[in-house]
Amino acid sequence: MNQKALLTQTVQKGGCAAKIPAEELREILSMVNFKTGSKDILVDGSSMDDAGVVQISADLALVQTLDFFTPIVDTPYLFGQIAAANALSDVYAMGGSPRTAMAILAVPLLNMSKEIIAEILQGASDKMAEAQTDLIGGHSIDDDTLKFGLSVTGYVHPQKIWKNSGARCGDRIILTKPLGTGTATAALKRQVVSEEDIQDEIKSMCQLNDIFNHSACNFYSSIHSATDITGFGLAGHVVQMARASQKTINLFMHKIPRFKKTEAFLRAGYLTKAHRTNKSYVSKEMQIESVGDIEQKLLCDPQTSGGLLLSVAEESSAALINHLHEKNILACEIGQVESVAHPLRVIISS
Ligand code: CO
Ligand code: CO
Repeated sequence: MNQKALLTQTVQKGGCAAKIPAEELREILSMVNFKTGSKDILVDGSSMDDAGVVQISADLALVQTLDFFTPIVDTPYLFGQIAAANALSDVYAMGGSPRTAMAILAVPLLNMSKEIIAEILQGASDKMAEAQTDLIGGHSIDDDTLKFGLSVTGYVHPQKIWKNSGARCGDRIILTKPLGTGTATAALKRQVVSEEDIQDEIKSMCQLNDIFNHSACNFYSSIHSATDITGFGLAGHVVQMARASQKTINLFMHKIPRFKKTEAFLRAGYLTKAHRTNKSYVSKEMQIESVGDIEQKLLCDPQTSGGLLLSVAEESSAALINHLHEKNILACEIGQVESVAHPLRVIISS
């Protein structure tokens, strides 16, 4: 492969859009008899939360997560940055601080130069340094398809875990990044746009979700629930939060942030299989047909390294949004939590 290797052209599917569809994953997991019930396990995979949590002592728990995928952009260094930011995000989404990481790497050794592989690792290493996370090991194999990611371990206080099940009536729903990375990277993979054309999306995917790194701990108790938006799109992740919390979430469609070119990309038909599978995943619990076709696709757009979705006490929402804006983090109030209206979990207002 030459130096300006177009990484996205070496794989069939890119980024979080390559996740196993949620319905199929649920079916597979339901066929396995897992050991459960250990008292020190505070969060396991059963609630489809972002990470697992194990208690170590009265004031310390470990958050553990793993994320890896195929290339989502063409520049190796940027792919490394995005893969790391995406993997670290699940620790932030639990209210934790990442501490260490292990790398998982599969490379087509015959067709890919060592320089390219090194650039991917450099991108990840620089992003981990920004997150004050040390890489302490990993595993690599020779494989047909390039895949890279991290297993991240972080710290969290056992009483300050943000589960996806904590949303309360009256809470405001805040989203911290625009939607649209799925359709933008689908356009890149088809080579109808360049990385330059989607630089806003790439910058956003590289951005850490460490929204509380520099203060704002005051808001910890106001945040009742959190998750990050990745492969299942805003639709899939908001349904999971509503389901886990046993609440209805009312989304305000016109307040949902998107990148400048997102609607044009969706209209042009730059889609992934996940746009379809995400829609069918949410169709029973979300009133998705109530909005237009492009809005439906926006809600189902699979994000890679997407923003945090926070359920915040009503009285703290405006102050939190101001605080995030001061730190140059986009934060939009996109909905609110209401009492349960079974079986509909998510409704959409214009
Ligand atoms: Co997540
Ligand atoms: Co994940």
